[in-house]
Amino acid sequence: RDHNNGSRGALIVLEGLDRSGKSSQCSRLLSYLVGLGHSAELWRFPDRSTGVGKIISSYLSNNSQLDDHTIHMLFSANRWEKRSLMENKLETGTTLIVDRYSYSGVAFSSAKGLHFEWCKAPEIGLLAPDLVVYLDILPEKAAERGGYGGERYEHLEFQKKVARCYQVLRDSSWEIIDACQPIEDVEKQLKGMVLDCVMACQKGKPLSNLWP
Ligand code: TMP
Ligand code: MG
Repeated sequence: RDHNNGSRGALIVLEGLDRSGKSSQCSRLLSYLVGLGHSAELWRFPDRSTGVGKIISSYLSNNSQLDDHTIHMLFSANRWEKRSLMENKLETGTTLIVDRYSYSGVAFSSAKGLHFEWCKAPEIGLLAPDLVVYLDILPEKAAERGGYGGERYEHLEFQKKVARCYQVLRDSSWEIIDACQPIEDVEKQLKGMVLDCVMACQKGKPLSNLWP
Protein backbone atom coordinates (compact mmCIF):
# COMPACT_ATOMS: atom_id res chain seq x y z
CA ARG A 1 0.00 0.00 0.00
CA ASP A 2 2.92 2.35 0.66
CA HIS A 3 3.74 2.96 -3.00
CA ASN A 4 0.08 3.48 -3.85
CA ASN A 5 -0.70 5.86 -0.99
CA GLY A 6 -3.75 3.90 0.01
CA SER A 7 -5.22 3.80 -3.48
CA ARG A 8 -6.55 0.62 -5.06
CA GLY A 9 -5.00 -1.67 -7.62
CA ALA A 10 -6.35 -2.18 -11.15
CA LEU A 11 -8.08 -5.28 -12.49
CA ILE A 12 -6.63 -5.86 -15.93
CA VAL A 13 -7.77 -8.73 -18.12
CA LEU A 14 -6.19 -10.11 -21.27
CA GLU A 15 -8.41 -12.10 -23.57
CA GLY A 16 -7.93 -13.85 -26.88
CA LEU A 17 -7.82 -17.17 -28.69
CA ASP A 18 -5.44 -19.91 -27.66
CA ARG A 19 -1.93 -19.03 -28.97
CA SER A 20 -2.73 -15.31 -29.27
CA GLY A 21 0.20 -14.49 -26.96
CA LYS A 22 -1.69 -13.65 -23.76
CA SER A 23 0.51 -15.56 -21.36
CA SER A 24 3.81 -14.09 -22.64
CA GLN A 25 2.37 -10.59 -22.60
CA CYS A 26 0.99 -11.07 -19.08
CA SER A 27 4.42 -11.96 -17.70
CA ARG A 28 6.04 -9.04 -19.52
CA LEU A 29 3.43 -6.70 -18.06
CA LEU A 30 4.00 -8.03 -14.58
CA SER A 31 7.78 -7.41 -14.76
CA TYR A 32 7.11 -3.96 -16.14
CA LEU A 33 4.74 -2.93 -13.34
CA VAL A 34 6.88 -4.46 -10.60
CA GLY A 35 9.91 -2.72 -12.13
CA LEU A 36 8.10 0.60 -11.80
CA GLY A 37 7.56 -0.13 -8.11
CA HIS A 38 3.90 -1.12 -8.29
CA SER A 39 2.45 -3.94 -6.28
CA ALA A 40 1.21 -6.38 -8.93
CA GLU A 41 0.37 -10.06 -9.37
CA LEU A 42 -0.25 -12.33 -12.32
CA TRP A 43 -3.41 -14.42 -12.08
CA ARG A 44 -4.97 -16.79 -14.59
CA PHE A 45 -8.28 -18.53 -15.13
CA PRO A 46 -8.88 -21.36 -14.96
CA ASP A 47 -6.92 -21.44 -11.71
CA ARG A 48 -6.03 -25.12 -11.83
CA SER A 49 -4.66 -25.21 -8.28
CA THR A 50 -8.04 -25.40 -6.50
CA GLY A 51 -10.35 -28.39 -6.14
CA VAL A 52 -12.65 -27.03 -8.84
CA GLY A 53 -9.59 -26.15 -10.93
CA LYS A 54 -8.43 -29.77 -10.85
CA ILE A 55 -11.79 -30.95 -12.21
CA ILE A 56 -11.53 -28.33 -14.98
CA SER A 57 -7.97 -29.36 -15.79
CA SER A 58 -8.93 -33.00 -16.06
CA TYR A 59 -11.81 -32.05 -18.39
CA LEU A 60 -9.55 -29.90 -20.59
CA SER A 61 -6.98 -32.66 -20.93
CA ASN A 62 -9.77 -35.04 -22.00
CA ASN A 63 -9.30 -37.23 -18.95
CA SER A 64 -12.94 -36.76 -18.01
CA GLN A 65 -16.22 -35.90 -19.70
CA LEU A 66 -18.73 -33.37 -18.40
CA ASP A 67 -21.97 -31.92 -19.66
CA ASP A 68 -21.39 -28.53 -21.37
CA HIS A 69 -23.56 -26.66 -18.86
CA THR A 70 -21.84 -28.32 -15.94
CA ILE A 71 -18.32 -27.39 -17.03
CA HIS A 72 -19.52 -23.87 -17.79
CA MET A 73 -20.67 -23.43 -14.20
CA LEU A 74 -17.45 -24.94 -12.87
CA PHE A 75 -15.39 -22.36 -14.81
CA SER A 76 -17.59 -19.69 -13.24
CA ALA A 77 -17.32 -21.24 -9.76
CA ASN A 78 -13.55 -21.18 -10.21
CA ARG A 79 -13.77 -17.38 -10.54
CA TRP A 80 -16.27 -17.06 -7.67
CA GLU A 81 -13.98 -18.93 -5.30
CA LYS A 82 -11.30 -16.29 -5.96
CA ARG A 83 -13.59 -13.25 -5.82
CA SER A 84 -13.06 -12.19 -2.21
CA LEU A 85 -9.28 -12.60 -2.43
CA MET A 86 -9.36 -10.63 -5.66
CA GLU A 87 -11.29 -7.81 -4.01
CA ASN A 88 -8.93 -7.77 -1.02
CA LYS A 89 -5.87 -7.56 -3.25
CA LEU A 90 -7.33 -4.72 -5.29
CA GLU A 91 -8.49 -2.78 -2.24
CA THR A 92 -5.08 -3.05 -0.61
CA GLY A 93 -3.37 -1.63 -3.67
CA THR A 94 -2.29 -4.66 -5.68
CA THR A 95 -2.87 -4.56 -9.43
CA LEU A 96 -3.93 -7.90 -10.92
CA ILE A 97 -2.98 -8.89 -14.45
CA VAL A 98 -5.43 -11.66 -15.31
CA ASP A 99 -4.90 -14.15 -18.12
CA ARG A 100 -8.54 -14.93 -19.20
CA TYR A 101 -11.71 -14.12 -17.25
CA SER A 102 -15.50 -14.24 -17.66
CA TYR A 103 -15.23 -13.36 -21.36
CA SER A 104 -13.46 -16.66 -22.03
CA GLY A 105 -16.21 -18.34 -20.06
CA VAL A 106 -18.92 -16.88 -22.29
CA ALA A 107 -17.02 -17.11 -25.60
CA PHE A 108 -15.94 -20.74 -25.25
CA SER A 109 -19.27 -22.05 -23.93
CA SER A 110 -21.43 -20.12 -26.38
CA ALA A 111 -19.16 -21.39 -29.17
CA LYS A 112 -20.50 -24.84 -28.27
CA GLY A 113 -24.02 -23.58 -28.92
CA LEU A 114 -25.06 -22.74 -25.36
CA HIS A 115 -27.43 -19.80 -25.00
CA PHE A 116 -25.46 -16.54 -24.84
CA GLU A 117 -27.41 -14.89 -22.01
CA TRP A 118 -27.45 -18.13 -20.04
CA CYS A 119 -23.66 -18.19 -20.31
CA LYS A 120 -23.39 -14.64 -19.00
CA ALA A 121 -25.68 -15.16 -16.01
CA PRO A 122 -23.37 -16.92 -13.51
CA GLU A 123 -20.77 -14.17 -14.01
CA ILE A 124 -23.14 -11.49 -12.64
CA GLY A 125 -21.62 -10.00 -9.50
CA LEU A 126 -18.01 -10.92 -10.17
CA LEU A 127 -15.68 -7.93 -10.20
CA ALA A 128 -15.72 -6.00 -13.46
CA PRO A 129 -12.28 -5.45 -15.00
CA ASP A 130 -10.96 -1.89 -15.25
CA LEU A 131 -9.45 -2.81 -18.58
CA VAL A 132 -10.05 -5.63 -21.04
CA VAL A 133 -7.48 -6.03 -23.79
CA TYR A 134 -8.25 -8.40 -26.63
CA LEU A 135 -5.24 -9.80 -28.46
CA ASP A 136 -6.69 -10.03 -31.92
CA ILE A 137 -5.45 -12.78 -34.23
CA LEU A 138 -7.09 -14.77 -37.01
CA PRO A 139 -7.68 -18.36 -35.88
CA GLU A 140 -5.67 -19.57 -38.91
CA LYS A 141 -2.69 -17.42 -37.88
CA ALA A 142 -2.86 -18.60 -34.27
CA ALA A 143 -2.93 -22.21 -35.46
CA GLU A 144 0.15 -21.58 -37.64
CA ARG A 145 2.08 -20.58 -34.53
CA GLY A 146 2.02 -24.21 -33.48
CA GLY A 147 2.08 -25.24 -29.89
CA TYR A 148 -1.56 -26.22 -29.63
CA GLY A 149 -1.06 -28.51 -26.66
CA GLY A 150 -3.77 -31.03 -27.50
CA GLU A 151 -6.23 -29.71 -24.93
CA ARG A 152 -9.94 -30.00 -25.58
CA TYR A 153 -10.54 -26.67 -27.33
CA GLU A 154 -7.26 -26.40 -29.21
CA HIS A 155 -8.58 -27.10 -32.70
CA LEU A 156 -8.88 -24.64 -35.58
CA GLU A 157 -12.56 -25.27 -36.32
CA PHE A 158 -13.58 -24.64 -32.72
CA GLN A 159 -11.30 -21.60 -32.37
CA LYS A 160 -13.07 -20.07 -35.39
CA LYS A 161 -16.36 -20.34 -33.54
CA VAL A 162 -14.81 -18.87 -30.38
CA ALA A 163 -13.49 -15.91 -32.42
CA ARG A 164 -17.04 -15.19 -33.63
CA CYS A 165 -18.39 -15.36 -30.08
CA TYR A 166 -15.74 -12.93 -28.84
CA GLN A 167 -16.96 -10.54 -31.58
CA VAL A 168 -20.48 -10.68 -30.17
CA LEU A 169 -19.22 -10.19 -26.63
CA ARG A 170 -16.83 -7.33 -27.13
CA ASP A 171 -17.97 -3.76 -26.58
CA SER A 172 -16.57 -0.31 -27.20
CA SER A 173 -14.72 -0.28 -23.87
CA TRP A 174 -12.36 -3.08 -24.96
CA GLU A 175 -8.92 -2.27 -26.25
CA ILE A 176 -8.02 -4.34 -29.31
CA ILE A 177 -4.42 -5.05 -30.23
CA ASP A 178 -3.34 -6.68 -33.47
CA ALA A 179 -1.59 -9.74 -32.06
CA CYS A 180 0.10 -10.55 -35.38
CA GLN A 181 2.55 -7.71 -34.84
CA PRO A 182 6.02 -8.44 -33.46
CA ILE A 183 5.86 -9.32 -29.77
CA GLU A 184 7.70 -6.10 -28.78
CA ASP A 185 5.16 -3.93 -30.61
CA VAL A 186 2.25 -5.65 -28.88
CA GLU A 187 4.09 -5.22 -25.58
CA LYS A 188 4.66 -1.51 -26.13
CA GLN A 189 0.98 -0.82 -26.88
CA LEU A 190 -0.13 -2.90 -23.92
CA LYS A 191 2.18 -1.12 -21.49
CA GLY A 192 0.70 2.26 -22.43
CA MET A 193 -2.89 1.08 -21.94
CA VAL A 194 -2.10 -0.66 -18.68
CA LEU A 195 -0.25 2.28 -17.16
CA ASP A 196 -3.13 4.63 -17.99
CA CYS A 197 -5.52 2.21 -16.33
CA VAL A 198 -3.38 1.81 -13.20
CA MET A 199 -3.20 5.61 -12.88
CA ALA A 200 -6.98 6.00 -13.29
CA CYS A 201 -7.57 3.46 -10.51
CA GLN A 202 -5.06 5.23 -8.25
CA LYS A 203 -6.99 8.45 -8.81
CA GLY A 204 -10.12 6.85 -7.43
CA LYS A 205 -12.00 5.10 -10.26
CA PRO A 206 -14.47 2.92 -8.31
CA LEU A 207 -14.61 -0.87 -8.50
CA SER A 208 -17.77 -2.28 -10.03
CA ASN A 209 -19.41 -5.61 -10.81
CA LEU A 210 -20.24 -7.56 -13.94
CA TRP A 211 -22.02 -6.95 -16.17
CA PRO A 212 -21.61 -3.18 -16.33
P1 TMP B 1 -5.67 -21.77 -20.76
O1 TMP B 1 -5.12 -22.40 -22.00
O2 TMP B 1 -5.57 -20.29 -20.77
O3 TMP B 1 -5.15 -22.40 -19.51
O4 TMP B 1 -7.25 -22.05 -20.76
C1 TMP B 1 -7.72 -23.34 -20.90
C2 TMP B 1 -8.88 -23.43 -21.83
O5 TMP B 1 -10.10 -23.18 -21.12
C3 TMP B 1 -8.85 -22.47 -23.00
O6 TMP B 1 -9.08 -23.21 -24.19
C4 TMP B 1 -10.02 -21.54 -22.74
C5 TMP B 1 -10.95 -22.34 -21.89
N1 TMP B 1 -11.78 -21.58 -20.95
C6 TMP B 1 -13.16 -21.79 -20.93
O7 TMP B 1 -13.68 -22.56 -21.71
N2 TMP B 1 -13.92 -21.12 -20.01
C7 TMP B 1 -13.37 -20.26 -19.09
O8 TMP B 1 -14.08 -19.68 -18.27
C8 TMP B 1 -11.93 -20.06 -19.13
C9 TMP B 1 -11.30 -19.13 -18.14
C10 TMP B 1 -11.19 -20.74 -20.07
MG1 MG C 1 -4.55 -23.25 -23.64
